[in-house]
Amino acid sequence: MASSITVTDHGLEIHLPGFDRSASISWHWLRDHDESEAGQDPVTKQRRVDTFSLGEVHPGTVCLDDGKATVTWADGAVAMCSRHLLESVAAECLATDWSRRPDVEPSLPVDAVLWPDPSIGPDEIELDAFLDPVSDEALTRGVDLLSRYGYLVLRGAVLDRDRAGAFARRLGYVRHTIFGGMWDLAPDLTDHADTAYTTVYLAPHTDGTYSHDAPGLQFFLCLQAAPQGGESLLVDGFAIAAQLAATDPETFVTLASVPVPGRYIEPGVHLRAERPVFRSTARGVLDQVSFNNYDRAPFLLPPELERRFNRAYRRFAELAADPARRVAVGLTAGDILIFDNWRTLHGRNAFVGPRHYVGAYLNHEDLESKRRVLFGS
Ligand SMILES: [Fe+2]
Repeated sequence: MASSITVTDHGLEIHLPGFDRSASISWHWLRDHDESEAGQDPVTKQRRVDTFSLGEVHPGTVCLDDGKATVTWADGAVAMCSRHLLESVAAECLATDWSRRPDVEPSLPVDAVLWPDPSIGPDEIELDAFLDPVSDEALTRGVDLLSRYGYLVLRGAVLDRDRAGAFARRLGYVRHTIFGGMWDLAPDLTDHADTAYTTVYLAPHTDGTYSHDAPGLQFFLCLQAAPQGGESLLVDGFAIAAQLAATDPETFVTLASVPVPGRYIEPGVHLRAERPVFRSTARGVLDQVSFNNYDRAPFLLPPELERRFNRAYRRFAELAADPARRVAVGLTAGDILIFDNWRTLHGRNAFVGPRHYVGAYLNHEDLESKRRVLFGS
């Protein structure tokens, strides 16, 4: 990144290509983000100095070279900030529209590829290659595809339940919930009374609307495919959000602002949480779609807002059920389907005959972590 840095009375100005204004970095920020060994642990990057206890900081001399900015403070301390750090935080700051109301005008993650589009779609990956402990090539490709598309299919030649655990460990770790760690999903199981343990059609939904931190990823390992039906149905929730934001802003704003409660009830358990269908980060980037009409809990809105909400929720349900938006994924024994539960709605075609899947949840943050590690950012 060909940036330039100038020193001002208040700190540093970072000029980045592609932006018509510069980013201001204050003296306090520079001291607070000292990357020298005195300022932070070199491995964990944890801060070693409580900068806020120092009061106002006063610079003595500033030295800029190609790789870093070094500031010697009036009290004799020396702080160092790498150019990489200065440029990356400046780019993030300048790319954020701080006047934007995130619940009204969210942006999509910059690298999200919306679907379905007949001309694009994530490639399938060989499970063997993904699990290869010697090479991260297929893992890297898979993490990239999963992050950008919100789902990924891995084809496996060998039927082996242990591979589900190995698969999870390549990405992070299995998250334990009311369903345990990895759970068996088959119509003859009676562990839970949930609709998932039946043979009927399941409308596209997200899991965990009853959880304050809904599972970020869900995967299914197919141990036995149904002889007829049973395909997984995927719908891109981000694509629905993008369409509504562009063509029906009132519906979008309603779905981004009305908290919708979800619940899960079985003997001894009553889980409940609530959030809007569209949740954005504080920076205004759409982060999560939550929609599960099966698990929606009772709630009451003022009459006018109820009318608006019902219209908006019905509109979302219509789009989610639109066959043109669906990607049907058929698995055979040994295959794995993984999807982003914060983005991709999943459902299922009705089926006949036996069908045995193993399911599990992983954390969204662990996929994000794996991506940073593999891509060095
Ligand atoms: Fe589900």
